[in-house]
Amino acid sequence: MPTYRTASEEETIALGERLARDLPSKQVVLLIGQLGAGKTTLAKGIVKGLGAAEPDEVSSPTFTLIHEYRGRVFHVDLYRLENEREAQSLGLEDLFDLEAVVLIEWGERFRDLLPPERIEIRIRPMADERREIEVREVTGGYPQT
Ligand SMILES: Nc1ncnc2c1ncn2[C@@H]1O[C@H](COP(=O)(O)OP(=O)(O)O)[C@@H](O)[C@H]1O
Ligand SMILES: [Mg+2]
Repeated sequence: MPTYRTASEEETIALGERLARDLPSKQVVLLIGQLGAGKTTLAKGIVKGLGAAEPDEVSSPTFTLIHEYRGRVFHVDLYRLENEREAQSLGLEDLFDLEAVVLIEWGERFRDLLPPERIEIRIRPMADERREIEVREVTGGYPQT
């Protein structure tokens, strides 16, 4: 379970690019961390690394809920959803069926809606602009804490 450290927004974008290289073309990735941790920033790097868009073309889907990049990457933010019924109405399982990378912020709030096989990336703010970023592959049915 590799843990990385970054010291700036730029480094986190660069890490996202690197992580993208090892992602299969069909993969669900949870981005976990408090507001401002850097989830969207890391997503920018992953989208860039997958060759789907440039970082400044990637904005937070907080209000739009789902952004699509060339049909190959979907970036989802469930922050504003109140309950599982609302989340269910998004039809996430249709995205999970696609040959695509699906990046999800605040997905851990709705674990029952997630596929059991996924990658969970936790971002922890440390002092200053430092972030600790842990990548974990989840393969079982049991929810991770
Ligand atoms: N090492 C770092 N990695 C990522 N973002 C950082 C870092 N240091 C400072 N920041 C800042 O933290 C904020 C992260 O915002 P954002 O990626 O939108 O967070 P989230 O999506 O988790 O709410 C940005 O303003 C970014 O410039
Ligand atoms: Mg965000």
